[in-house]
Amino acid sequence: MYERLTVVGATGAVGRLVLRLLEERNFPYEKITFLASARSAGKTVTFKGKEYPVEVLRPEAFHEGDLVIASTPDEVAREFAPYAVERGAVVVDESAAWRMDPKVPLVVPEVNPDAVRNHQGIIASPNCSTTQMVVAMKPLHEAGRIRRVVVSTYQAASGAGVAGQEDLDAGTRAYLADQEYKYTTFAHRLAFNLIPHIGSPKHEGYTSEEMKMVWETQKIFGDDSIQVCPTCVRVPVTNCHSESILVETERKITVEEARRLFAAAPGITVIDDLPNKKYPMPMVCDNYDDVYVGRIREDLSSPNGLAFWCVSDNLRKGAATNAVQIAELLIGVKSTVRA
Ligand SMILES: NC(=O)c1ccc[n+]([C@@H]2O[C@H](COP(=O)([O-])OP(=O)(O)OC[C@H]3O[C@@H](n4cnc5c(N)ncnc54)[C@H](OP(=O)(O)O)[C@@H]3O)[C@@H](O)[C@H]2O)c1
Repeated sequence: MYERLTVVGATGAVGRLVLRLLEERNFPYEKITFLASARSAGKTVTFKGKEYPVEVLRPEAFHEGDLVIASTPDEVAREFAPYAVERGAVVVDESAAWRMDPKVPLVVPEVNPDAVRNHQGIIASPNCSTTQMVVAMKPLHEAGRIRRVVVSTYQAASGAGVAGQEDLDAGTRAYLADQEYKYTTFAHRLAFNLIPHIGSPKHEGYTSEEMKMVWETQKIFGDDSIQVCPTCVRVPVTNCHSESILVETERKITVEEARRLFAAAPGITVIDDLPNKKYPMPMVCDNYDDVYVGRIREDLSSPNGLAFWCVSDNLRKGAATNAVQIAELLIGVKSTVRA
């Protein structure tokens, strides 16, 4: 159905992983092209053991019948997606540029796969912190209807791309050597610190990252009445976002029922054995596609509250895996996650 597969942002943290996933999942294609900025002109990427040139993103790079998986900054996606669609391509976009556009479906295949059918050329993949939360919410919402969510995130440096990962590495080394280091992606030192500020000031004291969790959750579930109170925090972890989540449901869900619901849900793995010190942590979830859930408890302070801890690889399920799964939905391949 799609002749050419085009990976935009192929040199970035998410784009590099898109390449690995296309290999791992044996994604079907006839021709493949890799695009990035002029900074990457002359570079190559290796895909399925073969070297390909990285080409510069420009309108002529797109053709009728192209399937595009794009992982670029918002402003780049805002500019190129319309001209790619005009030339007949379908774009799966990882950036925030199109997520809240009413004409653009915002899709998490485990939650709202049917939304993909309504696309008009662009399909958006949500913010990484939203994606893992809505995958975990889905079975609880179906069973007991979630009315309210209070969530605090512990977001890894890789959420800020290649530069974020480099900042944490170099900043930690410098701190331990008692040297100065000028961070390029974070407003404060990240080594041995937490930064309760991701994105920019957006709404009533909440940041843009926090408001993405509110608005994207409501759009994905098609229910503006779900109330979300988020606090997003950057932590000195290389990869994998963690979230402390409290949901309040219309019908009470017990711990035992929640454990059963999570265990039966696609894309979720339960690790929940406190006495034996087993729970999801970035070091055990890194490089896997699933959303991991543990520390499942009934809320001591409200009758229908359920608290749990949720960890997922932000570069995989939070970005590249979700986008490749959307592309699989588009070509009608059964979408599966690798646990
Ligand atoms: N990191 C995450 O956990 C995560 C999760 C969900 C969504 N996202 C979203 O995914 C997108 C990519 O994030 P990332 O973390 O992969 O960032 P990144 O590591 O900084 O990579 C950005 C990519 O975009 C390319 N690019 C930048 N400016 C360009 C331009 N003017 N023209 C063409 N290509 C350009 C870069 O190419 P060069 O190498 O040539 O500069 C690079 O390939 C962002 O919108 C981000 O918000 C990221």
